[in-house]
Amino acid sequence: MIGRLNHVAIAVPDIDKAAAVYRDTLGADISDKVPQPDHGVNTVFINLPNTKIELLEPLGEGSPINKFLERNADGGIHHICYEVDDIIAARDKLVENGARILGSGEPKIGAHGKPVLFLHPKDFNGALVELEQA
Ligand code: CO
Repeated sequence: MIGRLNHVAIAVPDIDKAAAVYRDTLGADISDKVPQPDHGVNTVFINLPNTKIELLEPLGEGSPINKFLERNADGGIHHICYEVDDIIAARDKLVENGARILGSGEPKIGAHGKPVLFLHPKDFNGALVELEQA
């Protein structure tokens, strides 16, 4: 069911600083910073030849990554995103197999303008999994 690795997301306390490390120290191609108010984060994408890294910084009150950053003050790997062909079919199959979908269970539009869902880390070896419709 899952296809390509779309991105690995790293939550950071200061996205400008983190983006500068990728740009200047690691020599990576980085996107502009984009606010995602629906998701409570600012994002910067690091474009690698085979995948992307998504830097996340809290945006606004009650950002969903605040708790993560309280536990990981320097930042850390927050989630991994796999592509699926049909997000509704993927969700229904996961639910049928007992996996838990976070939030309402309905896809939201993600950072690339495509529908995404998040899966409960307890069902996936402690890793928060995002699915994005390819
Ligand atoms: Co993501």
